[in-house]
Amino acid sequence: MSSTFLWVLLPLLFLALTPQRSGGQLDQEWCIADEQTLDEELEMAMKWACEAGGADCSKIQENQECFWPNTTQHHASYAFNNYYQRFKQQGATCYFNSAALVTALDPSDNSCKFEYLP
Ligand SMILES: *[C@@H]1O[C@H](CO)[C@@H](O)[C@H](O)[C@H]1NC(C)=O
Repeated sequence: MSSTFLWVLLPLLFLALTPQRSGGQLDQEWCIADEQTLDEELEMAMKWACEAGGADCSKIQENQECFWPNTTQHHASYAFNNYYQRFKQQGATCYFNSAALVTALDPSDNSCKFEYLP
């Protein structure tokens, strides 16, 4: 093995083995609908998030990747999280009149990604 090769490889190996600065998943948080909240309240809060709130709710429309499961709970969770991730740096909270809560468990599934932004 040439020494040039080693000088390239070793730093790469070191980088690959070093834990990421963020500490992995530990400090990530998502905003989801509280399952104890009535659907009517979730609908209202979701409507606010998607309209005045400025969340991007395009992916929970029919035929889009986050439409299924087609439940108010799931759609509201997506909308709440999108709003929260986009605007938390500007002081937005995961509250929605107590219809929402923060979780450290990634709500994403194979087809639908709940984004996390630092
Ligand atoms: C999704 O759910 C709503 C409310 O239950 C229902 O009216 C609609 O038909 C459903 N859409 C599909 C494609 O299943």
